[in-house]
Amino acid sequence: MDVTGLINTREGWVDRRIFWDQAIYEQELERVFARAWLFVAHESELPRPGDFLTTYMGQDSVIVARHTDGRIRVFTNSCTHRGNRICFADGGNARQFTCNYHGWSFGTDGALLGQHEEAHYAGWIDKSQWGLQNARVETYKGLVFACFDADAPSLEDYLGDYRWYLDIVLDQTDEGTEFIGGCVRNDFQANWKFGVENFIGDSLHASWTHDSGAKAMTYGKPVPEFMPVEQDSFHANANGHGWEGGTDGLGTLGIMSLRRPVIMAYYQQKRAQMARRLGELRATRLFGSVVSASVFPNFSYLPGIGTMRVWHPKGPRRIELRAWTIVNRDMPDEVRNAMRDACMETFSPSGVFEMDDGENWENATRANEGVVTRRQRLHYGLRVGTSRRDDPDLPGNISRPMYSDVNQLAFYQRWLDFMTGQSWRDIPRVR
Ligand code: FES
Ligand SMILES: [Fe+2]
Repeated sequence: MDVTGLINTREGWVDRRIFWDQAIYEQELERVFARAWLFVAHESELPRPGDFLTTYMGQDSVIVARHTDGRIRVFTNSCTHRGNRICFADGGNARQFTCNYHGWSFGTDGALLGQHEEAHYAGWIDKSQWGLQNARVETYKGLVFACFDADAPSLEDYLGDYRWYLDIVLDQTDEGTEFIGGCVRNDFQANWKFGVENFIGDSLHASWTHDSGAKAMTYGKPVPEFMPVEQDSFHANANGHGWEGGTDGLGTLGIMSLRRPVIMAYYQQKRAQMARRLGELRATRLFGSVVSASVFPNFSYLPGIGTMRVWHPKGPRRIELRAWTIVNRDMPDEVRNAMRDACMETFSPSGVFEMDDGENWENATRANEGVVTRRQRLHYGLRVGTSRRDDPDLPGNISRPMYSDVNQLAFYQRWLDFMTGQSWRDIPRVR
């Protein structure tokens, strides 16, 4: 299906069809999710050989396991005999995975190890040919990504200039980061792109959608009081990944610390070390500001609040959100507990902000379907065409201020690159 006419990133509009059409969705699974590097785990979730978890790459169920050689492997969670799902657990530690149906068993690298009543198979199967499909696996500072496309560039190239921004969260201390408190799941009857585009650049919704929730949380202080002043904020994007935020170093940390001052105290004491690692700009001005961010295609996070999340597609009108709290390994218990509680209070199934957003995305997905409604395009034109690549301080494509559709359009341009490209040869390495 040719989707080139559905989005215009120069004029700044999007066709409503991309949020509900089944054929477009099928093409997304093939051309976006089966090609891109997808976040699957944090290394801290799999510390020992045999540790595993199950997740999704697009709609493909996969097992992420640390093999006996210490390397993390990612492979399809569907038996090569009749296709039965092999592993039903969310995670754990295992020597092998054995299928319920006829007892074929697979190693923590996906290799076919043996079968129940194996003697019957003598001479009839070459086991080395019937293992589970392994994805490429690469890590970036604790985050594990996997990719099913042999022609995709390395993860480092895929992230490109955007690594500079990811480091603000991942590289604050020598000890690195970890996920705490397990995985929280949430279901939305909405298109997956709404979650991504909201986190990549939609700061404009915050002071409207989240105002009442914020007042309830902050003893009456309205959201706009935490938002950056216009001239000190920006959109940054590279290769379809985006970061939007302020430069006051205070907005998000202020919200987090109102009820939990240990968070602010920890960061005040860390800022010098962070500045040595990241430089003053990133350590004291970008981190701590109101920021939201997404990595193409479906991984989002909020620096400072500590939520990291994947918007798993489950059809054009459904998302399974999986979310974690990321903390620095060197955080004392009372700080990490405060981080987790603040994260749950804001962005979780019981979090005030998550509910605000989910309702809007569900209604937008449904309403975009109307047969007359769908004839009218959606406006994505705020500050279209204003980004520049030659900023003296910030890598990537930069547009000021943050109140714009620039990052959303960069995400949709990357989406177009993937959806129209026949293979990775047609997808620009740097966008
Ligand atoms: S389907 Fe898995 S062993 Fe038969
Ligand atoms: Fe929101």
